[in-house]
Amino acid sequence: MKSAEIREAFLRFFEEQGHTRVASSSLIPGNDPTLLFTNAGMNQFKDCFLGQEKRAYTRATSSQKCVRAGGKNSDLENVGYTARHHTFFEMLGNFSFGDYFKKDAITFAWTFLTGVLKLPKEKLWVTVYATDDEAYDIWTKEIGVPVERMIRIGDNKGAPYASDNFWTMGDTGPCGPCTEIFYDHGADIWGGPPGSPEEDGDRYIEIWNNVFMQFNRTADGVLHPLPAPSVDTGMGLERISAVMQHVHSNYEIDLFTNLLSASAAAIGCANDNQSSLKVVSDHIRSCGFLIADGVLPSNEGRGYVLRRIIRRACRHGNKLGATGSFFYKIVAALVAEMGDAFPELKQQQANIERVLKAEEEQFSKTLEHGLKILEQDLAELKGSVVPGDVVFKLYDTYGFPMDLTADIARERELTVDEAGFEREMQAQRVRARSASSFGLDYNTLVKVDVATQFTGYQATVGSAKIVAIYKDGKSVDVLNEGEEAVVVLDQTPFYAESGGQVGDCGFLSSTSGRFEVRDTTKTGGAFLHHGVLVLGNLTVGAPVDTQVDADVRHATALNHSATHLLHAALRQVLGEHVQQKGSLVDSQRLRFDFSHFEAIKPEQIKALEDIVNAEIRKNSPVETEETDIETAKNKGAMALFGEKYGDEVRVLSMGGSFSVELCGGIHANRTGDIGLLKIISEGGVASGVRRIEAVTGAAALAYLNAAEEQLKEAAGLVKGSRDNLIDKLSAVLERNRALEKQLEQLQAKAASAAGDDLSAQALDVKGVKVLAVRLDGQDGKALLALVDQLKNKLGRAVILLGGVHEEKVVLVAGVTKDLTGQLKAGDLMKQAAAAVGGKGGGRPDMAQGGGVDAGALDAALALTVPFVEAGI
Ligand code: SER
Repeated sequence: MKSAEIREAFLRFFEEQGHTRVASSSLIPGNDPTLLFTNAGMNQFKDCFLGQEKRAYTRATSSQKCVRAGGKNSDLENVGYTARHHTFFEMLGNFSFGDYFKKDAITFAWTFLTGVLKLPKEKLWVTVYATDDEAYDIWTKEIGVPVERMIRIGDNKGAPYASDNFWTMGDTGPCGPCTEIFYDHGADIWGGPPGSPEEDGDRYIEIWNNVFMQFNRTADGVLHPLPAPSVDTGMGLERISAVMQHVHSNYEIDLFTNLLSASAAAIGCANDNQSSLKVVSDHIRSCGFLIADGVLPSNEGRGYVLRRIIRRACRHGNKLGATGSFFYKIVAALVAEMGDAFPELKQQQANIERVLKAEEEQFSKTLEHGLKILEQDLAELKGSVVPGDVVFKLYDTYGFPMDLTADIARERELTVDEAGFEREMQAQRVRARSASSFGLDYNTLVKVDVATQFTGYQATVGSAKIVAIYKDGKSVDVLNEGEEAVVVLDQTPFYAESGGQVGDCGFLSSTSGRFEVRDTTKTGGAFLHHGVLVLGNLTVGAPVDTQVDADVRHATALNHSATHLLHAALRQVLGEHVQQKGSLVDSQRLRFDFSHFEAIKPEQIKALEDIVNAEIRKNSPVETEETDIETAKNKGAMALFGEKYGDEVRVLSMGGSFSVELCGGIHANRTGDIGLLKIISEGGVASGVRRIEAVTGAAALAYLNAAEEQLKEAAGLVKGSRDNLIDKLSAVLERNRALEKQLEQLQAKAASAAGDDLSAQALDVKGVKVLAVRLDGQDGKALLALVDQLKNKLGRAVILLGGVHEEKVVLVAGVTKDLTGQLKAGDLMKQAAAAVGGKGGGRPDMAQGGGVDAGALDAALALTVPFVEAGI
């Protein structure tokens, strides 16, 4: 059975059991700061397990893209060396949100494996959490798995609930005991059953994990029961494919065959089962999918993990003899293999290739640089062991892998201090964990257990009831004048910050008090009105009138709609690789960050403005439609990476199909309301990310008016008008050039006259004319010209001219050619410049210099005669 057929059979089986088929979510977890990458099928359902989100269904099934590299559950270091670890894999799953529990979950899994896939029962082994008698009994008594193939696993990872059979998504959040199903690949492969000392071998491979989600773990380690016991299961598609395709390594399945040969071809090596080739063909999948989902290599967070994976791939390619960039060349094979199931790969192919190629090229420079540093360190090395901190510095600062350092050391009969390196690594891991926002406690983010109804799409005013007040993070009943607080209402027209659009401001008023809302945010289902009580008092339970500042809201809405138009125009003008990387929409302006590799040219800026303004002038209605995510995607709606979308999504269209995006924001009624869009800046914010800022409506008009004022002022300065400003300015510049020329001529004349006067002052020292004169106010260029002239006039001569110009001492020395054998202008200059606290030098016949000590200038000039006397 091909992998695609297994995927389909799984999803269909669970659909037949009443499950809703849900599409894979992005690899960037939606609005979840606790998680680096989507690492399990359950991620997108986390809030359903916690009871904070209700969906139209209580049973779901999916095939989820997962990355396990970096953060908890990282498999990176194992990849390539075992038959079953990957940085990227697909996880088939079935989920129950307070619907069925252990008995059905176990029965479904067993029926699918033995009934649909027809796996021999005697090949299947089962583990349960040590104390989970209920699961143990279901397996042994109802399903009939013999006790010899049942294994109880306790807390085998050194702490309570730290167990292979207790699954947690992160340090906090939903978790529970699990039962895992293993497949025995046969006695010819080394390894023992789970729990045995040989369990790390490849013989018994876990194929399916059924988690009984029962608890929410808080940071203090306490397990709080979930509102309803639930089920989360995960079966790696690659592992079950290996079983079904009668191979024991995942790298032998259909999904990998072509990738391995494409990797070998790109590297230019044989395709014969080397670990490094497996590393490369695994890593192209995670890198390709991560870039397609909007991650770019960088030095922090997700981008850093991506960078590490790319570098690991490059290094293994180099080990196999690759010269030059090779990794990006495998993208085409990845797209051919998986592009049908994941169209984002096809759409992003060119972008993925470009990002990988650029990163490979940068890494090769890094390696070169690291090698130089290593050479220096080795030159200074005492003894025969390269210290751990040196190895770590190379690794951490220059991306120089330890085994490469070890290789080079070996060639010189040196060793590396691996233990010392490991200690530094460990210290860095601790630093990284404490600095990482991904360690956030999920539970501290969810304190308010209220669902506010949002009425703001239709209205900016209304009435509501206060359901909670928080002062300094604590719930209070009464708020007094002057106090700052967060007020939660049962319903509100205030838009809460999201999707880049800032929260609304305005007022909440009651008969007893007036609260100024300065910002609105959202946590779970609750809208938080942040502000200050400017008058009287407010109590929980009291009715209030709600009033959004409609002018601010209106200006913000125009900017938001314009952002969508700009996004669509960017894709038209620059290409489909443009992805939103961030946006900020407020009443003053819009800011849009997006992926693109070079500065935007002025003609492209103009094209963008033209396209957007043409859409504005069409004045088409801004349309919204509530639908499901699949229908929305089929309509071509652009979904944003890192945004979480529920079952029901809001599709916002402008100009028919010109711009179709998923968006919950507030928008103009018609595109014409925007009035005008004017781009005011363009620049880079990070590697491969550009930023455009623009203004719309009244702000755009104000911007143009200000420009017009400047134009008028400029015209006034040249006594012209905006119509003839260019002519006037050209004339002024022309005249300026002519005057500069005239000035130069006059200066030359003046210098020549001065030269005539000066030559008369020359002394005769042993038959040499010596002239040392102070001329303040002349720049170096003028003095040079003068020295030249004087040399011609005086014949056999040594000249030093010096003066103060713009508060600095300027010196020029000249020696006629016939004397340069004995006297060098550069030598004279060295002495003179040193005397004025500066430096100088030049050719034997002409030298220049300067200094700062104007008081010493005369003494410096007086050095000339002794210089000549000494040299002749
Ligand atoms: N969340 C569990 C796992 O990842 C089951 O899907 O193993």
